[in-house]
Amino acid sequence: MSSTATVKETATAVGTPAQVKTMKAARIHGFGKPDVFKVEDAAVPGLQPGEVRIKILATGINRLEHYIRNGEFLTEEQITFPRILGADAAGVIDAVADDVTGFEIGERVIPLTGYPTDPAEYDVRPFVNAASFQVRGVHSDGTYAQYINVPAQWVVRDTTGLTPAEAATLPMVLVMAASAVKNIGQVKEGDTVLIQAGASGTGSMSIQVAKALGARVLSTVRSAAKAGFVESVGADRVIVTGTEDFVQVAKDETGGQGVDVVIDGVGGGVFTRGLDALRTGGVIVPYGFSAGPEATINLIQLFFAQKQIRGAFAGGKEDLEWGLEQVKQGRVRALLQQTFPLSQVTEAHHLVAASKMQGNLALLPWE
Ligand SMILES: NC(=O)c1ccc[n+]([C@@H]2O[C@H](COP(=O)([O-])OP(=O)(O)OC[C@H]3O[C@@H](n4cnc5c(N)ncnc54)[C@H](OP(=O)(O)O)[C@@H]3O)[C@@H](O)[C@H]2O)c1
Repeated sequence: MSSTATVKETATAVGTPAQVKTMKAARIHGFGKPDVFKVEDAAVPGLQPGEVRIKILATGINRLEHYIRNGEFLTEEQITFPRILGADAAGVIDAVADDVTGFEIGERVIPLTGYPTDPAEYDVRPFVNAASFQVRGVHSDGTYAQYINVPAQWVVRDTTGLTPAEAATLPMVLVMAASAVKNIGQVKEGDTVLIQAGASGTGSMSIQVAKALGARVLSTVRSAAKAGFVESVGADRVIVTGTEDFVQVAKDETGGQGVDVVIDGVGGGVFTRGLDALRTGGVIVPYGFSAGPEATINLIQLFFAQKQIRGAFAGGKEDLEWGLEQVKQGRVRALLQQTFPLSQVTEAHHLVAASKMQGNLALLPWE
């Protein structure tokens, strides 16, 4: 689409002129360490038909951006520089294309992190079956910036009452956890679930979703320093790997049977061992690869015990809406660890690179 839509409304509740042309953004001009970010002026794209412009009040940071920045996710040929990274955001409606109805200027909103970009595929479910599905900030500019234009179709009203920084930490991890734990893992009341890396953004949210569904949760951390956090999030039994074997604990906690479901964002050898922690007929849901994308599987063990591997990636608008409803009802909370002004994006990425996370980080683009 090349034409720019007329902007229906001009005044904003946050004092921004409607025809804003430039903004501050954190961009990378090549792959590298956290200091590769440059916070600089970038053009605000014109509003296209069907879109709203969101003034971003806070941006959530995810490990995905660490992988992209580090050159672990895309090759030089697969990315266009400069690139504004970032998928998560919370903000207010700043401008509305004249063909969009249902949104008011100044209204608090949360955009989905990924969606089909071709309107002909807006009804495809699951989203990831749409050829045009994209996570924002990968092949298009993202949310480490002051503004973002998003199709109104993929914007959800934020009625959680959370601060923008708290709300901005939610979309990616909440949608992923709803998808992996509820939809793909089909966790239900009374199940025992093992959630790997419980202090991670995705792990801590998966613990909360599993608890909201009525499960008993075992969860791993690599250092005892993070155990208290994982317990505070809701894990019934925290396993500090290195001092305890999570397979043995999974057996001990289930009368020798093994757990019903393993939720695994770690991958590598942790995924392989996770299969041993499952009961006969149990399900392991891989969704990430913090420890590496490759794992060895003993097929005999897999088929004799009829274990299932079901991958999970992203999720839909209904998953974000379901998750936000859990937040409103107090069953799930945002786990904001720390905020940084956009100008300190490098410092924030150092924490991610060193796995010093307990929950999620957020950037404040107007500070
Ligand atoms: N499928 C999807 O839709 C989806 C969505 C979001 C994220 N992801 C993926 O999920 C993974 C986690 O993302 P995140 O944002 O939650 O990451 P994060 O908050 O940065 O946490 C990463 C976690 O990985 C653990 N870890 C790192 N290296 C490890 C190793 N060698 N062995 C064991 N554990 C290790 C750390 O555990 P400790 O706390 O014990 O140090 C840390 O808590 C990433 O691969 C990401 O790409 C997938």
